[in-house]
Amino acid sequence: MATLELKGIKKSFGDVNVIRDMNLDVNDGELIVFVGPSGCGKSTMLRMIAGLETVSQGQIAIGGRRVDHLPPTDRGIAMVFQSYALYPHKDVRGNLGFALKHAGVAQAEIDERVNAASDILGLSDMMERKPRELSGGQRQRVAIGRAIVREPDVFLFDEPLSNLDAALRVHMRVEILKLHQRLGNTMVYVTHDQVEAMTLADRIVVFRDGIVEQVGTPLELYRKPVNTFVAGFIGSPAMNFLEADAQGSSIRLGQSDICTSNAGNGRVKLGLRPEHLMLEENGPIEGTVSVFEHLGGESFVHLTLPDQQTLVAKLDGELSFKPGDTCRLGIRPDHCHVFDRNDMRVAA
Ligand SMILES: Nc1ncnc2c1ncn2[C@@H]1O[C@H](COP(=O)(O)OP(=O)(O)OP(=O)(O)O)[C@@H](O)[C@H]1O
Ligand SMILES: [Mg+2]
Repeated sequence: MATLELKGIKKSFGDVNVIRDMNLDVNDGELIVFVGPSGCGKSTMLRMIAGLETVSQGQIAIGGRRVDHLPPTDRGIAMVFQSYALYPHKDVRGNLGFALKHAGVAQAEIDERVNAASDILGLSDMMERKPRELSGGQRQRVAIGRAIVREPDVFLFDEPLSNLDAALRVHMRVEILKLHQRLGNTMVYVTHDQVEAMTLADRIVVFRDGIVEQVGTPLELYRKPVNTFVAGFIGSPAMNFLEADAQGSSIRLGQSDICTSNAGNGRVKLGLRPEHLMLEENGPIEGTVSVFEHLGGESFVHLTLPDQQTLVAKLDGELSFKPGDTCRLGIRPDHCHVFDRNDMRVAA
């Protein structure tokens, strides 16, 4: 187990700056999740930690030891990729033990570590099977097993579940959480999946264009996003942003007072999460239903407000609306997010 320090990391490919200035201290045993839009530099950052890519500037230390000049094999890391690329002609046992054999580890020790990893991952019954005789989830477990047997200080995962179907993803997500609880390793995990990020992370790092927008626990990011980018990125369905007016201490949407804020006077963006909007007879937000989606346990109502702004509310699954119906909503003032003209959060 080990800490991981990223200090002033920059990376450019030619004249394209992919990582502009990355600083992060990962605690021993912490599970850090990187999220951000496609192309923002998540994989590049992970590959630099792994040593598969050089840093243009800055320092990487694992367990207090500087590693950015070391080859991948000397860094104490193991990486699991999206495409798990198992050796097709080797069975599960051969795949799990390959790296150790290659590194010249004694056979008795290989057997011990491979058996321990296969127990943890539930692979013991299929050690003689070839990859083609395994399901997608089983193959992914072998890929994770290959990382475990190396007993790394730091695990790196780059979207390891994105090739799996929805049900298997949920299953493997829980498996990874259990694995982390059991091994207690430091992990850095890249994902596009909101739920994976929220449920796995001790802390989430939100990237945009090679810059870290915010680092925090999942609930910190959900409750206090520093700007509209993080606010819109964390949470699903995404937060609604409405043009509103700050008048004195009041935030007004059309003719209604919605919450208070010290934004000063002028235009602001009011952020309302779909799941925080409630059906309310005399609620301050009135709109016309444009689309109504039934999902079983819940429903999404899409509203057009009198000033033509639109919003989505997540409501009870028992409800029923038709396009053209009027719908009135309310929200608790402490669930409202206010952002200034520069898209930065205004403290309540
Ligand atoms: N070897 C390379 N040469 C030139 N440009 C590269 C190279 N590798 C990555 N890039 C560029 O760096 C940027 C960041 O890529 P990266 O793969 O880190 O993004 P990402 O955040 O992992 O995206 P995704 O979510 O799609 O996987 C992209 O614009 C990509 O085109
Ligand atoms: Mg990537």
